[in-house]
Amino acid sequence: MTTYTIARPKKLRGELIAPGDKSVSHRASIFNAIARGAGQVTNYAPGEDCEATINVLRLLGVKIERYTSKGTGGDTVLVHGQGNSGLSEPPDMLDAGESGTTMRLMSGVLAGHSFLAVLTGAEQLRNRPMGRIVEPLTAMGAVIHGRKGVIDGKPDTLAPLVFAGGALVGISYRMPVASAQLKSSILLAGLRAKGETAIHEPAPSRDHTERMLSAMGADITSKGLSVTVRPGGLRAIDVQVPGDTSSAAFWMVAAAIHPDAELCIRNVGINPTRAGAIEVLKAMGADISVDDERDAAGEPAADITVRSSRLRGTTIAGKIIPALIDEVPVLAVAAAMAEGETRIRDARELIVKESNRLAATVDWLTSAGVSAEAHADGMSIDGKGVLKGGEFSSRGDHRLAMSLAVAGLVSDTTVRVTNGEAAGKSYPGFWDDLRRVGGLAE
Ligand code: S3P
Repeated sequence: MTTYTIARPKKLRGELIAPGDKSVSHRASIFNAIARGAGQVTNYAPGEDCEATINVLRLLGVKIERYTSKGTGGDTVLVHGQGNSGLSEPPDMLDAGESGTTMRLMSGVLAGHSFLAVLTGAEQLRNRPMGRIVEPLTAMGAVIHGRKGVIDGKPDTLAPLVFAGGALVGISYRMPVASAQLKSSILLAGLRAKGETAIHEPAPSRDHTERMLSAMGADITSKGLSVTVRPGGLRAIDVQVPGDTSSAAFWMVAAAIHPDAELCIRNVGINPTRAGAIEVLKAMGADISVDDERDAAGEPAADITVRSSRLRGTTIAGKIIPALIDEVPVLAVAAAMAEGETRIRDARELIVKESNRLAATVDWLTSAGVSAEAHADGMSIDGKGVLKGGEFSSRGDHRLAMSLAVAGLVSDTTVRVTNGEAAGKSYPGFWDDLRRVGGLAE
């Protein structure tokens, strides 16, 4: 376990390149693996999660070559597609590590294959809810067995998940939660199901799957909160992965709350279903400019510059929540440094992320001297512009590790982040980048 110490730097300056987007990278490797032809993915996300996806695909017989980049460009991954029915029975258990996206998207791929496959993961992931995917996939005809568990007081299904065949038929499904992982899982199963599969979301979740499947020739249509897919094969495509919006958010908040800062983050994905944090920071009064907007393989990207700002509290609730769900811990840091109350609602999903991020964030803010209160679906933070230093654990959660580091940039005394290596799940270069902009003592 590695502990990192962060002391408040006099100034924070520099240019950063956020690592390749995790959500887009998972999709680019999985979708190309079940497509016809070969697809080259550049700037593939460097973290452990997207590595887990590659390992799972390889065990299913997919040939994947990975070229490591020595510069800041990110790795290139060449995926040799097997076609819609070309995966082979894995000789061993498939290990998704700690990656919820790997487990849920691969479940949609494995559903309806005639071979036996067991999908498992690290302890953290084996305790996250899988009933949400097992239920609709089973309704489509897949045979899936999982462990019985209880999540948030209700019966649920937990990994390992055993897939044992079944012929799929399309369904019309009303999703109980706005989850892109759930939506994508059903859409992937829909590619192999008989007839049409229609999904209706309660709020818009990230739409990378719809964009990429459409670019690969799938018969997919989105209208409002509904997506419809018909069975059919995909064509492999090259994907240039934009920088991860969620990773960039740490630098956006860092620059906004530090009194002498200017950070520019290059090539950041600004897909509107992901970029809620930019909207919220602007509403809080952050000095943010979004420049040179461009298209990166069907995904909008831009350079983002953030300067020291005087933030005020705000309300974050409703349909914007899925567009910033992973950014709540770092937005909570912004809220603590703002003036006035910030109320976060409709974010019950935080309970079932890599940690219970609702409880973890409120606990930590409270021990950092902030008046914060947890609610069933969010939190209230009374911003006074002050954070106390101390030693805090990441609880093995990458987003908490990096949010704690951002807090360290403005705390009155040093912040020690224990289990800081958790950042490697999505952003292995985070601590080096922090040092480069002036923020790391040891
Ligand atoms: C992801 C979707 C989100 C997000 C996760 C990645 C994806 O989860 O929290 O980090 O790549 O589809 P949900 O879709 O379950 O909300």
